[in-house]
Amino acid sequence: MAPRIEAPEFRLTKTDVVKKVEDILAPLKLSEEVQKRIREVYDEEMRIGLARNPSRKSCLQMENTYLPELPNGTEEGEYLALDLGGTNFRVILLQLEKGRVVSDEVQHYFVPEPLRVGPGSELFDFLAACIYDFLETRSKLDHKLPLGFTFSFPMTQQDLNVGILVSWTKSFNCPGVVGEDAVKMLNEAIQRRGDLEVEVVAVLNDTTGTLVQGAFLDRKCAIGLIIGTGSNACYIERVDRVEKWEGTHGDIKEVVVDIEWGAFGDNGVLDFMKTEYDQMLDKNSLLVGSFTFEKLFSGKYLGELTRLVLVKLAEEGLMFGGKIPSQLLRPGSFPTRFVSLVEQDAVLKLARPVSSESCFHELGIEHGSDDLKILQQVCFAVTERAAILLAICLSATLMRVDREECTIAVDGSLYKYHPRLHHLLEHYIIKMTPGKKVLFSINRQL
Ligand code: GLC
Repeated sequence: MAPRIEAPEFRLTKTDVVKKVEDILAPLKLSEEVQKRIREVYDEEMRIGLARNPSRKSCLQMENTYLPELPNGTEEGEYLALDLGGTNFRVILLQLEKGRVVSDEVQHYFVPEPLRVGPGSELFDFLAACIYDFLETRSKLDHKLPLGFTFSFPMTQQDLNVGILVSWTKSFNCPGVVGEDAVKMLNEAIQRRGDLEVEVVAVLNDTTGTLVQGAFLDRKCAIGLIIGTGSNACYIERVDRVEKWEGTHGDIKEVVVDIEWGAFGDNGVLDFMKTEYDQMLDKNSLLVGSFTFEKLFSGKYLGELTRLVLVKLAEEGLMFGGKIPSQLLRPGSFPTRFVSLVEQDAVLKLARPVSSESCFHELGIEHGSDDLKILQQVCFAVTERAAILLAICLSATLMRVDREECTIAVDGSLYKYHPRLHHLLEHYIIKMTPGKKVLFSINRQL
């Protein structure tokens, strides 16, 4: 069983301050009853999301990825892979032998904000320019390369190489792409240049890519999970349960379903557990009213959530000697990596919380030792809630997977760099899925 790490000790002497801090953090604690209700609502949304003629629309897309089968180990040759989802666009050249990656070369390209919110055609022109740069540097411009496009956004897929964007998420909001096929837009940008030989053969969500990569290594892998800037999961579902898939399925017995759980709650079903901090965070976000679940904990938002709680504590006169540091009033000023740093102190139990200090130092905020302790309490609370929320949805998903033993392939910066989240998640999964043997496998980042 994963080690359970206790909350940092709270030794403030003024009991009224301790009590007030606890009151402010209390809405972030999920009681057993609230957890049960979230689980029920999630189960119901999953069911409706797969139903043929539901009486209402589910907030869970439950997208059939049309992934015909997981890799069979015969894949050979050179492939190009693209990965777009965060602020870095990655171009990867893979060399496969008998389905295994024998070598890879990766290059990251930063996608500046004007491109992330500007006209869609400009974004795709930028992607094509990156492909050109990547191949030119490696003298491979004349190679006819098949290209797999990891497009980490909600898509509807009618085929392996068709991905219609349902909505933008995270830090993207380019006009002219929603409702369009991302593969077609990329191909058009490639053709506009006229100097590239690549052909887009498949478009995948990052969860699906993670599941495929995990299944290469472990046949028991049946779930792909992303805990990064955004969060989402896909899983192997029995075809007879995917009621909405009309027509004949031939011999296909199982299919990969992309849940798109980031949007869980967009129809109001999670309103009962949202705190004032969640509401404020949503109000100030790029895409208001969408991706409710993701905004509760994922990497793009966990730091911001922490910042909002800190501001509230300062407003109530419980931190920084009652003066609100102006640095904290700027949205986005407390990045999620700070939450990981603060949590590192809790894990290492050093006499001096050096990592927490370094966050305030980087922000230029003067603080006392009690401020550090309260900061640790806040980071503990948002992390604990993140792990429980993830575990609720993951365990409900696990119960749908028809296997006693199941490996979950995981990727994403928050999972990889937060020092405690993975332990907590394992702890809660064991608690919530009695009788299942669950293994987490971290995907190697290419
Ligand atoms: C967002 C996207 C989803 C993706 C996830 C993780 O939730 O909608 O498609 O899988 O981020 O990157």
